[in-house]
Amino acid sequence: MSPIDQATLNANPAPKHIAIIMDGNGRWAKARHMPRAHGHQKGVQTVREIVKHCAKIGVDSLTLFAFSSENMKRSSEEVGLLFKLFLTVLKQETKKLNNNNICLKIIGDMSVFTPEIQSLADDAEQLLSHNTGLNLVIAANYGGQWDIAQAAKKIALEVLGGRINPSDIDVDCLDKYTSLANLPKVDLLIRTSGEVRISNFLLWDIAYSELFFTKTLWPDFSPDELDEAILNFHSRDRRFGARKEDA
Ligand code: IPE
Ligand code: IPE
Ligand code: MG
Repeated sequence: MSPIDQATLNANPAPKHIAIIMDGNGRWAKARHMPRAHGHQKGVQTVREIVKHCAKIGVDSLTLFAFSSENMKRSSEEVGLLFKLFLTVLKQETKKLNNNNICLKIIGDMSVFTPEIQSLADDAEQLLSHNTGLNLVIAANYGGQWDIAQAAKKIALEVLGGRINPSDIDVDCLDKYTSLANLPKVDLLIRTSGEVRISNFLLWDIAYSELFFTKTLWPDFSPDELDEAILNFHSRDRRFGARKEDA
C-alpha cells in the first residue's frame, strides 16, 4: 500500500513541480556484476513507474535529468550506449505517453545528438504538445549553466533587434527565456544515489526548491519512496525569505 492516499492528497496536494536527478545506475549494475548498460536499462523502467505515479497523484510537471552536458566526458562507449537508449525510448514510449495524455518537452543542447534522435524528439514533442495531463520534461545534454547562457544569448538578440530595452531586463524577463519558462516553479528536487550535489542540473529554477536526498540508487527508486519524499515535503516550512509574522 502506497504511503500517500487520496485523503492525504485532498488535504495536501502533491508538489506542482518535481525534478529528479536520477543517479546511481552504474553502481546498481556494478553491485550485481553487470555491465553499466543494465543499470541504465533498469533505470528506464523506474522512469516509466515514476511518470505513471506522478500522473496518478496529480503532479503538474516532472523534470528528469537524463543526461548532463558533462556526461559527454564519459567514454565513447557509454555515451554511444546512452544515445542508443534515448533513441529506443523515443521510438517505444511516445505512443504510450500519448495514450496517457502526457505532454513532453525535451530541454538541453540537442545539437550533439544524431539527426535521427533530433527529428524523433521534435516529432514526439509536437505529437504530445496538445495533451493536457502531466508535463514531462526530459533534460538531455542539459546543464544549468548552459540554460542561463542560452537565455542570455536570446535576450541579447532581442536587444539587438530593438524588441527589448536593456533597462527592462530583470528576473522575470530572464525567466521567460529559460528552458522551464511557463511551467510552475520547481517545488521539490530529489537526488538519488547518496551524492549531495546539484551536478549542474537546474540552477536558476531551484532558488527556493525543497531538496530531498536519498541513498537509494535510481533503479531501486520506487513510487513508494517518491510518496515518502512528498510526505517529507509536506512537513517543510517554506518561507521564501519572508517571516510569517510579517505576512
Ligand atoms: C545516472 O547514473 C545516469 C546518467 C548519468 C546518465 P550513473 O551512470 O551516473 O551511475 P553512477 O553514478 O555511476 O552509479
Ligand atoms: C548527474 O549525475 C547527471 C544525471 C543524473 C543525468 P552524474 O553521475 O553525472 O553526476 P556526478 O558526476 O556524480 O556529479
Ligand atoms: Mg552518477
